[in-house]
Amino acid sequence: NTITLSVIKADIGGFVGHSAMHPALMDCANEKLAAAKKSGLLVDYHVSACGDDLQLIMTHRHGVDHEPIHRLAWDTFEAGTAVAKDLHLYGAGQDLLADAFSGNVRGQGPGVAEMEFVERKSDPVLVFMADKTSAGAWNLPLYKMFADPFTTAGLVIAPTLHQGFRFEVHDIYKHKKITFDCPEELYDMLMFIGSPGKYTVKAVYSRADGTIAASTSTERLSLIAGKYVGKDDPVMIVRAQQNFPAVGEVLDPFRYPWIIEGWMRGSHYGPLMPVSVKQATPTRFDGPPRVACLGFQLAGGRLIGPRDMFDDPSYDEARRDANRIADVLRMHGPFEPHRLPLEDMEYTTMPQIMKKLEGRWAQL
Ligand code: 13P
Ligand code: 13P
Ligand code: MG
Ligand code: MG
Ligand code: MG
Repeated sequence: NTITLSVIKADIGGFVGHSAMHPALMDCANEKLAAAKKSGLLVDYHVSACGDDLQLIMTHRHGVDHEPIHRLAWDTFEAGTAVAKDLHLYGAGQDLLADAFSGNVRGQGPGVAEMEFVERKSDPVLVFMADKTSAGAWNLPLYKMFADPFTTAGLVIAPTLHQGFRFEVHDIYKHKKITFDCPEELYDMLMFIGSPGKYTVKAVYSRADGTIAASTSTERLSLIAGKYVGKDDPVMIVRAQQNFPAVGEVLDPFRYPWIIEGWMRGSHYGPLMPVSVKQATPTRFDGPPRVACLGFQLAGGRLIGPRDMFDDPSYDEARRDANRIADVLRMHGPFEPHRLPLEDMEYTTMPQIMKKLEGRWAQL
């Protein structure tokens, strides 16, 4: 009775610029996934979009990293890219870095969050999708969901959560992983995940029974491609209730618009604004960065939903705060801490400028 939830996403062309998704790409993806459901490969699916990123939310019985599922996603993105090219959408095929599919979409451009688990009698799952930011954007909210009792009351008052959670953290430059048992190892863990550009939380597990609670995409496009190809625009799956935080505890960290890297040209800090899927269309300075969340109840693998979780007035203040922070950061223009430090920008004219000014630098 195990089910696998796979969320695979890619930017295969923006409408207009990098701001949103053209409906023709959604139609194309719906058609492909409907056929895969009919053939029995998928139990169920839902196609969505966050900004210019196409989101394939799929359930099936084949486990994570299953080649036919990854191939289905890749083929869907390729078919969508053909449509995007026909419409001259912006950056058609942007995130498809490999020329051809080679068994798994990991390391090929698309972002992947997957988890396999035994479906509970009632199994609420939340799929988070972000645009104009990178994989590390989930670090702080995940810390708050699974390790901060001021966010998650259940860590204190629910016997099923009181043992805490185990965090799997990846060093994305050295390709290494480590686990931290929280709350005991909180301070050690924070030393690492406080640098979300280098260390990302890949997964979280319940310490009560070892089951998976959260899974994120941690692919870094610039590290894969060796050059700027847009931001990673990550996704995350979180299971809620019972041994996990309640739905409202999972959502509560997004009340504050955490400042994350991304935004214009992938080279600026900006606030992560929680929005409905309809409002996940970053326009101001290609932003500010967005996060949307779709909630589902699983029923024998069927995706009952979605509910658009941030389409709620209780997130109005978060959006207002995000706009205020956006104003303050935008005032800085090309100055840090709005613009990223030199070594973290996705591209730069520095080498050309240095070359041009060669010989004009006098010794002090
Ligand atoms: P209900 O009584 O509405 O089911 O709420 C239970 C709960 O845990 C809310 O966080
Ligand atoms: P995307 O990664 O969403 O395509 O953003 C690219 C960009 O440069 C936005 O200014
Ligand atoms: Mg784009
Ligand atoms: Mg994007
Ligand atoms: Mg991107």
